[in-house]
Amino acid sequence: MRIFLDTANLDEIRQGVRLGVLSGVTTNPSLVAQEGVSDFREHIQRICSLVDGPVSAEVVSKTVEEMVEEGREISSWAPNVAVKLPVTAAGLEATAVLSRQGVVVNQTLCFSVNQALLAARAGASYVSPFVGRLDDVGNDGMQVVADAVSLFERYNLKAQVIAASLRHPMHCVQAAKVGAPIATMPFKVLMQMIEHPLTDVGQARFLRDWEKVQASRVVR
Ligand code: G3P
Repeated sequence: MRIFLDTANLDEIRQGVRLGVLSGVTTNPSLVAQEGVSDFREHIQRICSLVDGPVSAEVVSKTVEEMVEEGREISSWAPNVAVKLPVTAAGLEATAVLSRQGVVVNQTLCFSVNQALLAARAGASYVSPFVGRLDDVGNDGMQVVADAVSLFERYNLKAQVIAASLRHPMHCVQAAKVGAPIATMPFKVLMQMIEHPLTDVGQARFLRDWEKVQASRVVR
């Protein structure tokens, strides 16, 4: 499973890159707004230059024509940009047009297996079921990921599932277990994946033991 960061924060992205585990980034209008970005294009281009992998940037248009025009524009910003479009009727139609033209599309705001299937059929390269938001309303978000993964495989659909709206480290484990090829997560969740109290205790003990031996050598 490849790890993407779900953020528009440049420092978080730089840190993720330094860790050597980052294969892409997803953003959305809320995340970009949080960063107080004045120039959307420039910000996405900076992220694209930092990351060796796809960077999703979302359209904010509503009609098919506007989505296609905005999607084309976004796709021209960098070779590794992916255009994010919602799984609505307009978003599907725009996905069909853009994907036929070779634009890499990430269909977002996916909350059902039917939406995932339609997004894949329309030609999306990525489909993003929102696990946490489904869990929030009493559904089993990870089941949508699991079903989409197995149906894409069964019907030989090229779209890749991005397990999105992940809220905690167990979501990452579950996404990996159900075979999601990609998981996108907030920086905080990536850090939580690293942490384990026994690692910290074990490292402290190893270093203490090592230092004791060094100190006793100095005394002799
Ligand atoms: O990539 C989708 C993601 O940003 C949604 O996450 O936590 O706002 O539900 P969340």
